[in-house]
Amino acid sequence: MAPKWRELADRLAAQIRHGDFAPGQHLPRIRDLVAAGEGSKATVHAAYKALEAQGLVTSSRGHGTIVRLHSPVRPIRLVGKRVVLREFTYEDVDDVLAIIGDDKVTTWLSFDSRDRAQAAAMIEGTIERAQLEPRNEIYLAVTKHDDDRVIGFARIGLAGVQAGKLGYAIAATEWGHGYATSAARTLTSYAFKELGLHRISAAIGPDNAASIAIVQQLGFTREGVLRDHVFTNGAWRDSVLFSVLAHEWRHL
Ligand SMILES: CC(C)(COP(=O)(O)OP(=O)(O)OC[C@H]1O[C@@H](n2cnc3c(N)ncnc32)[C@H](O)[C@@H]1OP(=O)(O)O)[C@@H](O)C(=O)NCCC(=O)NCCS
Repeated sequence: MAPKWRELADRLAAQIRHGDFAPGQHLPRIRDLVAAGEGSKATVHAAYKALEAQGLVTSSRGHGTIVRLHSPVRPIRLVGKRVVLREFTYEDVDDVLAIIGDDKVTTWLSFDSRDRAQAAAMIEGTIERAQLEPRNEIYLAVTKHDDDRVIGFARIGLAGVQAGKLGYAIAATEWGHGYATSAARTLTSYAFKELGLHRISAAIGPDNAASIAIVQQLGFTREGVLRDHVFTNGAWRDSVLFSVLAHEWRHL
């Protein structure tokens, strides 16, 4: 069982990421949480220290025990035609495991299926990198409009000169409803419009017909083959490289 301070820290972190506390707002005073039965002063203090270590809050010493939110936490939420893209939270671990723990999905990705601990670590890394200012990636959970459960993810890694690398996956039970197309379109539009990118590329396995159909539908151009680009499923595999440039993007 997790220690009491860890449970409190996780709960507060989830509330912060969910937007229950706006950037700049104060978290409750330690003595108020103690009075509310959240644990001893040491428990609450340890929880706040953990939030500080995650970069979610900064403590303002002049104000005693009051803790303030770190301003760079700027959650992204994008609404597409069929999906919503939002930041990950620690509660998403089971949904994420259903995606990256499924061989049907990972056989097309550049890594082997992950277990629960690895899914939790993936989420943790994503949340940590989302605190960077500026961000080096936009890695978002995909949900349906009417249900906050995670059915996939979409990511643009920022590398090079105004350039980004697009990736996505959808839970196998949800394939074939246009969710990946909507997620890729929404995130690519955001990257051109809001991040000012010039070029977005996607490296796709030559046999991944569904993924190739998606980028072609979005107007990406085939550039060529990256030989032995990834080592996956025990062997080297080529990728086909596709890209779209800002002035070619017609979905803004
Ligand atoms: C690729 C993937 C994201 C597609 O997700 P999805 O939500 O089912 O995709 P969509 O429903 O938006 O669209 C898929 C498109 O591919 C087409 N398609 C699906 N399976 C296909 C197949 N076997 N052959 C050819 N086209 C196929 C669909 O018809 C659709 O095109 P359309 O809109 O013109 O009809 C999903 O299969 C997945 O997660 N795969 C494993 C991970 C992966 O490959 N990620 C991409 C790595 S580059």
